[in-house]
Amino acid sequence: MPNHIYIDKKIPTFKKIIRVSSDKSLSIRTILLASQAVGTSKISNLLESEDVLNTLKTIKKLGINYKKTKNCYEIYGFGLNGFNPKNNTVINAGNSGTLGRLILSLLIKTNKKIKLIGDKSLSKRDFSRVTSPLKQFGANIKSNKNSLPINIQGTDFLRPINYLEKKGSAQCKSSVMLAALNTPGTTIIKAKKSRNHTELLFKYLNLPIKVRSTKNYDLIEVKGLQQFNAFNYVIPGDISSSSFFIVLTILSKNSKIRIQNVNINESRVGIITILRKMNCNISLQNKKKYKGEKIADIVVKSSKKIKKINCPTSLNSSAIDEFLIIFLIAAKANGISIFKDLGELNKKESPRLNIGLKFLHMIGVKVEREKDNIKIHGNPNLEITKNLHIKKYLKDHRVFMMSCIAALSFGGKWKIDDKDSINTSFPIFLKILKNLGANIRW
Ligand code: S3P
Repeated sequence: MPNHIYIDKKIPTFKKIIRVSSDKSLSIRTILLASQAVGTSKISNLLESEDVLNTLKTIKKLGINYKKTKNCYEIYGFGLNGFNPKNNTVINAGNSGTLGRLILSLLIKTNKKIKLIGDKSLSKRDFSRVTSPLKQFGANIKSNKNSLPINIQGTDFLRPINYLEKKGSAQCKSSVMLAALNTPGTTIIKAKKSRNHTELLFKYLNLPIKVRSTKNYDLIEVKGLQQFNAFNYVIPGDISSSSFFIVLTILSKNSKIRIQNVNINESRVGIITILRKMNCNISLQNKKKYKGEKIADIVVKSSKKIKKINCPTSLNSSAIDEFLIIFLIAAKANGISIFKDLGELNKKESPRLNIGLKFLHMIGVKVEREKDNIKIHGNPNLEITKNLHIKKYLKDHRVFMMSCIAALSFGGKWKIDDKDSINTSFPIFLKILKNLGANIRW
């Protein structure tokens, strides 16, 4: 099967109810926590994408068995530090920064030599952001140039740390929290606000955690060496996967969509706050609470008059994976939108800030950049008539999906490479687009 697609028509008006793939952050975290719980955890509705399947393969290699029955994965944990791998085991995190960074924390006490590797994209990413705090715990970690491959061998000589997380990275915060689980004493973290799924899961599992929130930071205390019981969890839909359909609907004529059962945790809904400020019509319905998380249907209608935004940087972390797709809305807005302090985007599966700006330039949108601050000159009449080819680059699933939405919203004749990258996070992306009426060929 070819690994590229062709789109040469905008999507016709649609009015549909859909469900997107399950939340990736929660899928990976629940598997990792189940691997440290005592007994059989049952996780339903798990996202079956490459990043998550690599998480399952990883715990299996580390000696934790699992079984799939119907829509549910049973994971058989032996409790804290319950990994029992062979010496010199190699684990492959594939494309996943979350898996790669979080698994290291659970290995700091495992008494075997483990090597962590990843794909080309992950091998370019910085791991010092997690290996430096882990080394402060006492972890025995060796790597070249702060990136993969990393060798780790567990030790019993661990001590709690005081850690300041200034990037607003949930991976860094969660990595320290997971390391705290296998460490005696109390680990204290002051973390710039970022997605808080790990905190909510710790609370739900009755782990000894205290969280105190200030305006921009959370103060988190985790007491280690506390066993916890296996658990059941049903994973809701992913807001990051929903974001492509939110934007497609806003940019399409007379269209409406209901995306059912999506996790709308406040630390993830930056895209909704930003797009509402830009005059887009988005409502949250059927709100429910689930084990500390919030879930709702997201209902979106087309928007005729999109306003520019001066985006508050306090929203950056809660929209960190959605900026590429938000840029498409800014491209169609009336006026110049300003986004600041977006350096973290260049630390993702690809240098997304650079790629996003190159992309906007390619589709005829004027962009100004000063360091990590950008101005996008919106054009409410933006239409594309030329031929465009989006080439494969570092397997960035969000670049592929954003390109499809641009093609279906702005017109033009597109060839978009790297179709298989959707398997990383959202394997049913193209299927849903086709069900909405998109004409996509490969
Ligand atoms: C994630 C955190 C974010 C995000 C990534 C998933 C997580 O990364 O970009 O897709 O599940 O914790 P950072 O923590 O590096 O910002």
